[in-house]
Amino acid sequence: MRLLVLGGTQFLSRAVAAEAVARGHDVTCACRGVSGTVPDGAELLVWDRDDEPPAAITEAAWDAVVDVSRLPSHVRRAVAAVPDAHWVFVSTINVYPDNDIAGTPATLRLHEPITDDIDPKTSPEAYGAMKVACEQIVAVGAASSMSIRPGLIAGPDDGTGRFTYWPWRLDLGGEVLAPGSPDDTVQIIDVRDLTGWIVDSAESRRTGTYDGVGDIHRLGDLLAQAAIGAGTDCTFTWVDQEFLAAQEVEPWAGDSGLPLWLPRPEYDGMLAHDPTPSFDAGLRVRPIADTTRDTLAWLRETPDAVRTGLSPEAEARVLAAWHAR
Ligand SMILES: NC(=O)c1ccc[n+]([C@@H]2O[C@H](COP(=O)([O-])OP(=O)(O)OC[C@H]3O[C@@H](n4cnc5c(N)ncnc54)[C@H](OP(=O)(O)O)[C@@H]3O)[C@@H](O)[C@H]2O)c1
Repeated sequence: MRLLVLGGTQFLSRAVAAEAVARGHDVTCACRGVSGTVPDGAELLVWDRDDEPPAAITEAAWDAVVDVSRLPSHVRRAVAAVPDAHWVFVSTINVYPDNDIAGTPATLRLHEPITDDIDPKTSPEAYGAMKVACEQIVAVGAASSMSIRPGLIAGPDDGTGRFTYWPWRLDLGGEVLAPGSPDDTVQIIDVRDLTGWIVDSAESRRTGTYDGVGDIHRLGDLLAQAAIGAGTDCTFTWVDQEFLAAQEVEPWAGDSGLPLWLPRPEYDGMLAHDPTPSFDAGLRVRPIADTTRDTLAWLRETPDAVRTGLSPEAEARVLAAWHAR
């Protein structure tokens, strides 16, 4: 297969290019080449998608395209340049506005599309609505296409550092601040499982729209499995969300945040998408313990790896306040 990866210099799109090379495909990564390197065996074709595509893109015959863009103008320009290929577009579960409801692509409503580019840094809430527009551009303009809407992507090379917090924290051992309730639902997707499915789907020209999500877990079970993967002995102290909020602990991300924790009931559905249609379409996911073990191994060999979440001092302060309440 002659595969065009739009991206290829970081995390997911780089992993897709690497997996396709490993399977013997002819892989070109088109991007600016500023976020990192493309994997060994893939060709870098320099293209700033703010500009018109180079002839090397428009004049070549591509079997499949994988695109991770967030900007409608970038997707519009690329689809117009490569309309005859099979497209696999990487979207997001942020296309769904109702985070309190669990469901599938067939049951959940979408944001109204935003078809103009809005800088995601100035307007993070436009992210999902622009992805809706991007999906529609691909569905209308490409010969055949699939859209995959991932939830939280975890694993080695994650530049957001969200799931990474947990392998790092569990590895420290001792008393661990566990957020919310052990019965809260949680869901991740290992980047390597998502990558394998994306390349499978490019190869088989799979069509349709799917969530890119793994099994639904209780948070208590996920952390227990993660502790096994990290090979550590720790105790969990569950602190309810009202107390965390009073201590100015943020949900999800950030230096004062706790990843995998989202306020309830507002986010009851966001980490509980039914993965059955995706599993039926070939997605296979590995155990949480394996993702944790491999993320920890990557962290140990990558001193500049990004990790979000509370510092040990901040965590100790909240735990002390909890015990003193
Ligand atoms: N992380 C998560 O938990 C999560 C959850 C749900 C969905 N997603 C989706 O998963 C995908 C992740 O993709 P990713 O890990 O590859 O990272 P990404 O940040 O989405 O994509 C970055 C790629 O786009 C290229 N790029 C950026 N600006 C460009 C420009 N002006 N011209 C050409 N190329 C440009 C970058 O290359 P250069 O900078 O080198 O040009 C890089 O290779 C995204 O679609 C994201 O929306 C992520």
